[in-house]
Amino acid sequence: MTRHFLRDDDLSPDEQAEVLDLAARLKAAPYSARPFEGPETVAIVFDKTSTRTRVSFAAGVAELGGSPLIINPGESQLGHKESIADSAQVLSRMVATIAWRTYAQAGLEEMAAHATIPIINALSDDFHPCQLLADLLTIREHRGTGQGNGLAGLALSYFGDGANNMAHSYLLAGATAGMDVRIAAPDGHQPEPQVLARAQEIAAATGGSAAVTADPVRAAQGADVLVTDTWVSMGQDHAGRDDAASPFTAYQVTEELMAAGRDPIFLHCLPAYRGKEVAATVIDGPRSVVFDEAENRVHAQKALMTWLRERS
Ligand code: CP
Ligand code: NVA
Repeated sequence: MTRHFLRDDDLSPDEQAEVLDLAARLKAAPYSARPFEGPETVAIVFDKTSTRTRVSFAAGVAELGGSPLIINPGESQLGHKESIADSAQVLSRMVATIAWRTYAQAGLEEMAAHATIPIINALSDDFHPCQLLADLLTIREHRGTGQGNGLAGLALSYFGDGANNMAHSYLLAGATAGMDVRIAAPDGHQPEPQVLARAQEIAAATGGSAAVTADPVRAAQGADVLVTDTWVSMGQDHAGRDDAASPFTAYQVTEELMAAGRDPIFLHCLPAYRGKEVAATVIDGPRSVVFDEAENRVHAQKALMTWLRERS
């Protein structure tokens, strides 16, 4: 059966650890895996804009011996002039893997239901699971416990829009890794209840935890990792989200929040807005690992594509 990666919990705890281990090996030896030698083509399809995702997938596919085909927003028939089901079947005859950045998670599920090749979520409105593989690799590199998967027991706190794709992916991927995930977000912007419940179900098996609070200081206390994301995600209206009256203002990651942690590192998927979700002194300061995190997109996605290819 073809395996897909549409949301973070598509990988079991053991599988997530396997992919992260492979990512670390590929980081140390970038040309040691050539699953797309031939070359086979990997389609990387965008309904939303991107810098990191498109470049990291393109570079990663090339390093794996393949040929990346980037399809930018508005360049294909997918989803408007042609059904997702037909597009999935056509592309399955032509390429080895599809990574797709789109709006609705349901579209990715429909694509996977009709494809005979791996489908990878390159960001949807609900999840950004490739980013989380890179984040977990980065956390392990900088704050790894040295035991088990290197992540279990670490506390990660997210601040800001608790209902967006990054918050949801931190909940699922962090719980899968056995981490203690805390989401600090204002009322009305807290995670989808089904995602929180799923994270808590996973955490019950892995020894982690998943919790939501409106209190940013409480969330920061003792945390090993502080993370945030833009207050306005792609496709959202800015109105009321990033002005002076923004409900997220109290959730900016500041030096004070960092001081409440346990010698924490700072992560951000980027692009970042200094003075909005994070103080410039934090993201540009010594505890920030955001550029390691960006680089790790390449290594993590190479591992993911290799792992999925072996199971197709
Ligand atoms: N973090 C991330 O996915 O960045 P891009 O939107 O530039 O791809
Ligand atoms: N939440 C952000 C993440 C960007 C990588 C967005 O969806 O725009």
